[in-house]
Amino acid sequence: MKPNNNGIKITWFGHSAFLFESHRGKNILIDPWLDNPKAPAGAKDIANVDLILITHGHSDHIGNSIEIAKRTNAKIISIFEISLYISEHGITNTQGMNKGGTVDIDGVKVTMVDAKHSSGIDYDGRLIEGGEPAGYVIEFENGFRIYHAGDTALFGDMKLIGEFYKPDLVILPIGGLYTMGPEEAAYACRLLMPKYIIGMHYGTFPALTGTPNELLKLLPLALKDSVVELEVGQQITF
Ligand code: NI
Ligand code: MN
Repeated sequence: MKPNNNGIKITWFGHSAFLFESHRGKNILIDPWLDNPKAPAGAKDIANVDLILITHGHSDHIGNSIEIAKRTNAKIISIFEISLYISEHGITNTQGMNKGGTVDIDGVKVTMVDAKHSSGIDYDGRLIEGGEPAGYVIEFENGFRIYHAGDTALFGDMKLIGEFYKPDLVILPIGGLYTMGPEEAAYACRLLMPKYIIGMHYGTFPALTGTPNELLKLLPLALKDSVVELEVGQQITF
């Protein structure tokens, strides 16, 4: 994999948590469960965050969003129902949205797309309505586009996401059990035909058994060079 010089810096914190830094210095966190079992020590003390994106209501995705937003004054973007929940927990800088919509934050365009999963919020042993699960397409100021699929099964409209939004990089769950495994993710890559592929939501617990290597073996030849295997805490520039 040879990244082009797009100037987008990406750090994986384990599970589905990523930091994207735009070439103009915007820091965007997605699904920031930064004290997951694989996260680098102290990750949740991250200092500069402009935006936090949440894909769905499960605790391994809302993660440390609320405490990070309180500390950094980052704006939290999520589906409408989760934004109500976030507001009830003392965060006023939220932007609720829904699938098909786009918000433009100082030149970074965030579009919410579909995902096939569930989205109840586990709060003190009670289940709270979390709307529907989602994925995001993020378009940076220079046009580079990332599709972060959230937690999802394989679904046919990934082809539509590929054709319509033309993501350069796709970040797909590969762990299995709660999401797609490597076989489904490999097929998703055929539908999306991206330049770069990153696997997530694997290895956090023993039950999430899929690996980037399995994904790589299952990809067609034309996509085999596209897989980027990240180590947790490692920053890579696209
Ligand atoms: Ni989930
Ligand atoms: Mn999950």
